[in-house]
Amino acid sequence: MVLYGKEKIKIVKLIKILKKICIVLYFQKRVKKLRKRIINYNYKYYVLNNQDIPDYQYDKLLLKLKKIESLFPYLRNKKSPTQIVGEKTLINFKKINHKIPMLSLNNVFDKKSLLKNFLYPLKIKFNKQNFCCELKFDGIAISLLYKNGLLIRGATRGNGITGDNVTHNILKIKEIPHKLKGTNFPFLLEVRGEIFITKKNFSVLNKLQFSINKKFCNTRSAAVGLLRLNNNINNKTIKLLSFFSYGIGFSKKLNIFSQNKILQRLKSYGLPVSNYSKIYFSFSKIQNFYNYFQKNRNFLPYVIDGIVIKIDSIKIQNILGCTAHAPKWAIAYKFPSQEKITFLQKVIFQIGRTGIVTPIAKFNTVNISGNNINYATLYNTNEIKKLNLKIGDMIIVQRCGDVIPKIINVVIEKRFFNKVEDVILPKKCPSCNNLLKKNKNNILYCSVGFFCKDQLKGYLKHFISRNAININYIGDKLIDKLVEKNFVKNLLDLFKINYTTLVKIDTLGEKLIQKILKSLKEEKIVTFDRFLFSLGIPEVGIVSSYNLSHFFKTIDNFLNTNLIELSNIPGIGTKISLNILNYINNKNNVDTIKNLLKEINIIYPKILIEKNYFYGKRVTITGKLFFIKRFELIKKLRLLGSNIDNNIKKNTDILILGKKPSSKLLRANKLNIKIINENVLLKLLSEK
Ligand code: IVH
Repeated sequence: MVLYGKEKIKIVKLIKILKKICIVLYFQKRVKKLRKRIINYNYKYYVLNNQDIPDYQYDKLLLKLKKIESLFPYLRNKKSPTQIVGEKTLINFKKINHKIPMLSLNNVFDKKSLLKNFLYPLKIKFNKQNFCCELKFDGIAISLLYKNGLLIRGATRGNGITGDNVTHNILKIKEIPHKLKGTNFPFLLEVRGEIFITKKNFSVLNKLQFSINKKFCNTRSAAVGLLRLNNNINNKTIKLLSFFSYGIGFSKKLNIFSQNKILQRLKSYGLPVSNYSKIYFSFSKIQNFYNYFQKNRNFLPYVIDGIVIKIDSIKIQNILGCTAHAPKWAIAYKFPSQEKITFLQKVIFQIGRTGIVTPIAKFNTVNISGNNINYATLYNTNEIKKLNLKIGDMIIVQRCGDVIPKIINVVIEKRFFNKVEDVILPKKCPSCNNLLKKNKNNILYCSVGFFCKDQLKGYLKHFISRNAININYIGDKLIDKLVEKNFVKNLLDLFKINYTTLVKIDTLGEKLIQKILKSLKEEKIVTFDRFLFSLGIPEVGIVSSYNLSHFFKTIDNFLNTNLIELSNIPGIGTKISLNILNYINNKNNVDTIKNLLKEINIIYPKILIEKNYFYGKRVTITGKLFFIKRFELIKKLRLLGSNIDNNIKKNTDILILGKKPSSKLLRANKLNIKIINENVLLKLLSEK
């Protein structure tokens, strides 16, 4: 059939439209697939800490998605990974400060270390003691707060000091009672325990996986992942979680004197408690308990990775106390982990944020407890010698629970001496090419500090991380690019990033750029412990930072400390003390802190502030002040324990009045709020 004139034009147009529709449908499908893949990788990287795609491949995928979205803008949406950086912005939980830090446990893996590090020293100190032996459930630690017997809050352990509020998901777990049984409970009771998934439910989850678009490689990561799901996600999956309680965190007036009695009491409240705990006095009985469960753990309906041994008497527990990381009265006696033999392909060298050269072993992929592994850190250059490691060796790789993979040995019998090669240590820094040095422990390190890009990147990643300053929308990948392109040469440059810089980074969309700029501009309020942690002082972790913040109360006290003072702080040993002194004696560091304080407001621990006129009051400021800059005043008032609001609220206590006040003055008058002018303010401040 031959077509002429208008009809022909119509048909040609129609074909064109159809072609377009086909193209759009094709790309729509591709975008969907790409997003799903990237979101999955993000999740593994940011939440499970388990990256299984090289950076460059990930970047390629993201770029592909970005290109398609720019060709077909209507395919773009808010939830696209091109518009979000990292999982921390995908999952945004409210933070909860634990009333008492949630510590971890020290581990031992064999009889000898159990006796040497735990049982003998205790026997010497306390002679006859009962030990409460429990199973070590492989899940995620949780804090449940009951007020008047009603469950009001559930929080993850997080970093031990601050956790995520996961109440919405906790309420859906059938085994956790919303109301405690009986009447014999304190007004406030914080129950601690473990959320986990049974082996049976794990396989149910595997079948459901498709519907939640997440893949979990073992029961522990499944429990962690499910608990952190968004509120609006599939209730079915959350219901697969189980719970065992094993302790009490915060509580008022609980007259219980042993761990065993705590377990009994928790049970009487209707909380699930494992039936397998036992009180033993002798080492041989404890060892039998361990052996029994090591042999029979496969018959349990849930995964355990060892036993926990706790001194039964609460009085002795209190005498022993805790280190920054773990109680001294308990220990995890872990089952030996699975080990696999594999082939060492090569060793690459990376520079950590402190400059230490970190060798990374790359080996043929092995699957250990459901995880595919092909890399393991060798910590520092000494480890290579210690292991007598050569390229081409057969090595034994171990992975225990959530611990990072480790090379524990070389199988010398399997070494072909003519085929293996020595690991050549670098002479120059793989990042900045400067000559490497050796420290007093013979460990190779790069001494140029932040002139070395890898050190700078490492430090900035630490600084922006969730437990430190937590700057939204800036993730590790962006840091890599900013440093690589020389846009950021030191910490303070980070705060100077502007639009012109960000548009030069090809993976960033317009919206994301705006979000990054907004996030950088926003007032940063950080608790003192997190600020200390953000400084990245070697060995000063989250819990040490917390202890330091409570001891020093203010940054000035911290900067003026000395060795004697430091040695009085619980949980701070000599090594940490020396690192702190080293840090504060470096003028550059002190200058950086001073400059940082222009960008960041520190909240100081209130409980320790002496009572003063401003303590606990809600304060608002209006108008121009002459004798003190507004940001300095805010800092000072926070230090004195005030809460500062931008606007007058019903519960505002004081309005500080400068020249040319805004309408806040009118509102304050209306609400009968106390108003103080600058003269009175200065007088009150000087009194303090
Ligand atoms: S007691 C102060 N008891 O193991 C710490 N922990 O590796 C008190 N865990 O974070 C913890 N089963 O999540 C305790 N029966 C048990 C446990 C147990 C599992 C977990 C807990 C802790 C981790 C430390």
